[in-house]
Amino acid sequence: MSATTETTASAPRHPAREARRARAAAKPPSTGAKDTTTIALRLIGTMIGGRNTAKFVIAMVLLVVAIGALVMLPYVSGQAINVVASKNGSLNELSGWVITGLVAAAVYILVSFVAERLMSRLATGATYTLQTRLAEHLQTLSLDFFDSRSTGELVSSVTNDVEAIARFFETAVSQLIRAVLQVVIIAVIMLIIDWRLAIAALLVVPAMLVITSIVERLSGPAFSKMQDEIGELSGFYEETISGHKIITANRRQEWAMAANKDRADGVFTVGTKSFFLSLLQFPITTAMSMLQIVIVVVVGALLAVEHMTQVGVIVSFIGYAGLLASPLSEIANLTGTLLQAVAAGRRYYAIMETQPTTVDAPDAAPYEFDGGHVQFQNVDFSYVPGRRILKDNSFEALPGQMIGICGPTGAGKSTIINILTRYYDIDDGTILIDGQNLAALTQQSLRRSIGTVLQEAFLFSDTVMNNLRYAREGATDEECIAAAKEANAHEFITNLPQGYDTPMIERGANLSQGQRQMITIARAMVAAPKILILDEATSNVDTRTERLIQQGLQRLMKGRTSFVIAHRLSTIRPAAKILVVRSGEIVEIGSHDELMAAKGFYHSLYMSQFKGKAPAGAES
Ligand SMILES: Nc1ncnc2c1ncn2[C@@H]1O[C@H](COP(=O)(O)OP(=O)(O)OP(=O)(O)O)[C@@H](O)[C@H]1O
Ligand SMILES: [Mg+2]
Repeated sequence: MSATTETTASAPRHPAREARRARAAAKPPSTGAKDTTTIALRLIGTMIGGRNTAKFVIAMVLLVVAIGALVMLPYVSGQAINVVASKNGSLNELSGWVITGLVAAAVYILVSFVAERLMSRLATGATYTLQTRLAEHLQTLSLDFFDSRSTGELVSSVTNDVEAIARFFETAVSQLIRAVLQVVIIAVIMLIIDWRLAIAALLVVPAMLVITSIVERLSGPAFSKMQDEIGELSGFYEETISGHKIITANRRQEWAMAANKDRADGVFTVGTKSFFLSLLQFPITTAMSMLQIVIVVVVGALLAVEHMTQVGVIVSFIGYAGLLASPLSEIANLTGTLLQAVAAGRRYYAIMETQPTTVDAPDAAPYEFDGGHVQFQNVDFSYVPGRRILKDNSFEALPGQMIGICGPTGAGKSTIINILTRYYDIDDGTILIDGQNLAALTQQSLRRSIGTVLQEAFLFSDTVMNNLRYAREGATDEECIAAAKEANAHEFITNLPQGYDTPMIERGANLSQGQRQMITIARAMVAAPKILILDEATSNVDTRTERLIQQGLQRLMKGRTSFVIAHRLSTIRPAAKILVVRSGEIVEIGSHDELMAAKGFYHSLYMSQFKGKAPAGAES
């Protein structure tokens, strides 16, 4: 999928990018095209729904208490001023108000502390839930999902998108709730104290909300686009970092830098636009809040002249205007975070709503092993609809037989095993395994019985021992070491710096290709599966080592049906049956001797290998 490496100087500027765009556009319309509110509510639901509702309600009650204490303060100052301003105010009365004020402040701080702690627990809990759900869901998806997306894009979803949502949970939700509560409570108190002054003071609130929604409408799409651009940039990083050897070898560093700059520019441009728009809100809300104070003072003064209100009330209202300003500007500022989270949430839910295409039938039964009799009957298969890869494939593997598969590069050999392990579902025909239809079996039971050594040796960033144990949970160290010995890997493993405890870096980059293959073979031996599949499992080891491994494999394959794909025809020579695949069709079937006698395609492949001539596409 690393189409970027195919870019040439004369090609359009970013064909890879275009291709990715086209692919993204071709993806079936996801249910993700939902409106902002739905996604925001769904995200919030993760935080405060279900088992968290009780905690959330407690936090809310505490917040109301805290805000109640807070709004006491302007009222208390107003009353204190009234005491001072009135001719018969006593010192006792004044100190009463001062103490009330101090108590209110203390209650505000303490209760806020507890409430915010509860809210932050809910927030981190929600992030945790989203992250684990996504990780679990990705494990259930079928291979075609991963075929259609770059690893980088997916990694970006798991990291950037989840982080954007986490930011929303951690700051936005609790701040937003507190801000809204504060605005509402203050508005109510103001109305109770003096409705005329309250209306004057609250006049600016609708104006602020209108401005907020205008800015939201403008910056929303920009934030959405920014999140996409970040995803694309991450994808590009992933590709250039893992492909840096190829980039260096082809002297494409400058191209990589330019392509990176182009993508970074994309993030910069939309990022600037969206942040500018959301930052604009700050000066606007500050100005509005000043305006509010001016209105309160002017209207208050007019009312006071008419003896319709007291100086203390005006002072309280100035205090309230101050307390309104910060939550209102918070509400405004949080729109940025909210919109980013919604954009991320849209991508998140699009993945979450993708259903695996290869699913167990409702009445799927577990595979029951009975010798390992495999039958392909007129099987047709295509990865992409309309582009048939396997055409009318039929063959039979009797229990315990070794089946060799050979043929030119791209012929469809790996594809045959991809559908035998049911990584993909077939278009037409039937695959029977011990008389049971593959499509009617549970995938779990099938994969437990079939062991595969894939063409690409993949090792995890863990110790050699744990990589061996990966095939079968609970395998003992002794079993793993015995398997390594069978696979002829024991010697080089013990020569590694820490022997079996040597950690693998990055898919085993600290081993040679052949050594990686030997570990994956040993891994399959640890699993000791009922049916064994080897796809070019020994292609990277020298012929002497291969012979040694073969002996081990022979012992493992004894009595087990096995499928061995190899370009090196000597590898599959002992096979009971060899399938010769060409352009998705099985053109010849027979033992080595039969195929040689037939003097067909196999014969010519074999002769070209053994005469030292370059075999036509037979050696990759
Ligand atoms: N995931 C995929 N999506 C779409 N097409 C694919 C996919 N994997 C393979 N193909 C196509 O299917 C055809 C057969 O591929 P396959 O991997 O089976 O070849 P192969 O015989 O194993 O070749 P090799 O000897 O190089 O391993 C190729 O034309 C390839 O382009
Ligand atoms: Mg292959």
